[in-house]
Amino acid sequence: MSFRIQPAPVARPNRCQLFGPGSRPVLFEKMAASAADVINLDLEDSVAPNDKDTARENVIAATHDVDWNTKSLSVRINGLDTPYWYRDVVDVMERASDRLDLLMIPKVGCAEDLYAVDALVTAIERAKGRARPVGFEIIIETAAGAQNVDAIAQGSPRLQSMSFGVADYAASMGMQVTGIGGTQAGYDMLADGEPGSDRALFPADPWHYPVTRMVAACRQHGILPVDGPFGDFSDDAAYRAQARRSAILGCVGKWAIHPKQVASANDIFTPSPDIVARARAILAAMQEAEEAGQGAAVLDGKLIDIASARQARVVVDQIELIETAG
Ligand code: COA
Ligand code: MG
Repeated sequence: MSFRIQPAPVARPNRCQLFGPGSRPVLFEKMAASAADVINLDLEDSVAPNDKDTARENVIAATHDVDWNTKSLSVRINGLDTPYWYRDVVDVMERASDRLDLLMIPKVGCAEDLYAVDALVTAIERAKGRARPVGFEIIIETAAGAQNVDAIAQGSPRLQSMSFGVADYAASMGMQVTGIGGTQAGYDMLADGEPGSDRALFPADPWHYPVTRMVAACRQHGILPVDGPFGDFSDDAAYRAQARRSAILGCVGKWAIHPKQVASANDIFTPSPDIVARARAILAAMQEAEEAGQGAAVLDGKLIDIASARQARVVVDQIELIETAG
């Protein structure tokens, strides 16, 4: 138990983050016309080293020229282990329009990474008199990031969301995996039974632990937890299964690396009419129970109590946030 109240994260929908390389400006209008809640213009790993300067200019221009409507607009800078990141921050913060909402920092390994970027961003905002302070998103995608996720969650007051990046995480951890996210062949549980008998294999989830760990750090400190990319954009069923697992673990959204994935993310991270109806019924029944001086009640033959009302409140708050923004 703790007397500390868990802080609420920023109140904005984050069901789908659509990425596009800063080196392909032809995609920007299409991204703006998509149904994603967040747009991530990328300067990092989808941009080849020779294109870094042009991509930066494209992205800065797009903050002025493209109508991003009500979307949260984010630019993913290069990691602090590269020679590009400081120029990304300086040029974007000095010359992007005030429409820019967020900077995304990849491969964060410790809280000081956030401190360093925050110091630079704060100085530029003051020097340029920028009207709107920019928020941060970060990616947990290295062994160091996973180890230091608690401190990272407290690394900067600008921090609004954290994503789990499967591909870089797998590489950093030395995992014998080449796909970007989802179920991995070979990561199974073998059913109990006689040696040599025909026993079923049950696919398990290799991302379960680090995602759950990240969600706990996020929730403790009022940060939005987000599931990262799923590479096989032709396999909608697998994308949806991964997204559903993440939603059940507490993530509020997932990345889309192709426009095909946007509708599925929006669908899965919008609580379904069934779960919303059930949540509202729980709240109503608990209201009645409370008026009758009871802490527990029965709804459809199942126990509900004050904790059920807290669970139901999560679902109702989420749908109300989405409907208000929508
Ligand atoms: N955002 C918006 N529109 C996109 C898009 C994106 N990220 N990727 C493709 N499109 C558009 C294409 O321009 C095309 O439009 P059209 O029908 O008007 O011609 C349509 O969607 C179908 O595209 P498709 O031909 O299937 O894809 P592609 O071969 O052009 O590109 C990828 C495929 C994966 C290279 C591309 O989607 C991409 O770069 N994704 C983002 C990668 C990224 O940012 N990674 C970093 C985070 S992990
Ligand atoms: Mg990465």
